[in-house]
Amino acid sequence: MFQNKISLKPYNTFGINVYADSFVSISALPKLKKIISKNKNVFILSGGSNILFTKNIAQPVVHINLKGKDILKNSNKTDFVFVKAQAGENWHEFVLWCIDNNFGGLENLSLIPGNVGTSPMQNIGAYGVEVKDCFYELEALEIETGKIKTFKKDECKFGYRDSVFKNIYKGKYIIINVTFQLSTSKHQHNTSYGAIQKALDDKQIEKPTIKDISNVVIAIRQSKLPDPKKIGNSGSFFKNPVIPILQFNKLKKEYSNIPHYPISDKLVKVPAGWLVEQCGFKGKRFGDAGVHKNQALVLVNYGNATGEEIFNLAQKILKSVNNKFGIDLEIEVNVL
Ligand code: EPU
Repeated sequence: MFQNKISLKPYNTFGINVYADSFVSISALPKLKKIISKNKNVFILSGGSNILFTKNIAQPVVHINLKGKDILKNSNKTDFVFVKAQAGENWHEFVLWCIDNNFGGLENLSLIPGNVGTSPMQNIGAYGVEVKDCFYELEALEIETGKIKTFKKDECKFGYRDSVFKNIYKGKYIIINVTFQLSTSKHQHNTSYGAIQKALDDKQIEKPTIKDISNVVIAIRQSKLPDPKKIGNSGSFFKNPVIPILQFNKLKKEYSNIPHYPISDKLVKVPAGWLVEQCGFKGKRFGDAGVHKNQALVLVNYGNATGEEIFNLAQKILKSVNNKFGIDLEIEVNVL
């Protein structure tokens, strides 16, 4: 049952030491339903990989620790399989398990911190693949009614780091499991992202397996991104902004090397990491709060930073990027 005054430091990848007035970790659905029936005003915590705590949490904290993976029967088709994973499964371990079973589709998403249950919330993505590409459906507990509802892909309204669970349904549902549709043969490799193809070429791998791709993605991430077990962080702190092409053309006159990706004939995406680096923040440290030395998009906690210190640094960066480029960056991490 609930424990009092529990530190949430082990439960958030930023490693921020805030306290929950009361805390319970749930590993069985009936228990979760019971708690929700008695208390609607709970704070749901999953992998804690996309959250910045700036204060103690007075609401009862419910940690979702539902475990289990099931291969669902699929008698008609032979080239794909449905796999249902419970929300509390660690994302990277799940991806590796899929690869070991020769289930393809998630290999580009190797080593992303967090749990299966929160992967659809922000539609996690990396190296040309997003969770939505393999997503089939999910089940979620409606907090108000205690009913379980199934959400098909189109109902989730996936966007860039976005879904209904970050918007209209924020705080209304608890995702309890996710079903993915994965290939069992004729895997569709996505190696178009430059660094992946280069790493495969360097290793002289012409016909990569899903394991080869996973290994390459792991190596790229390890070279650029800090391991949250060693240095607290929440991955990309900001979203990559999308700006009108007219604004982009003006910037390009001044900064001819500005990296960019066309989104449509009117819009261009610019890497936030580049903007932050141009403002001189890359590798900077203010007490225990800092900007990672290899990827300016990632804010880090060197040990004992408070959430407020990280947030203040983020505010400084937002201001600076706005002053220099006239672009308002959007924070990707949930700040509490
Ligand atoms: N760049 C810089 N300086 C930096 C960082 C990046 O100039 O400090 C430039 C790079 O040179 C490159 C461009 O920005 O031209 C893009 O960099 P990168 O390929 O590292 O990707 P990103 O846009 O910074 C996004 C995701 C990452 C994901 C990578 C790979 C967002 C907010 N971030 O980063 O996601 O791993 O692409 O697909 O979309 C995460 O969400 O936690 C995350 C790490």
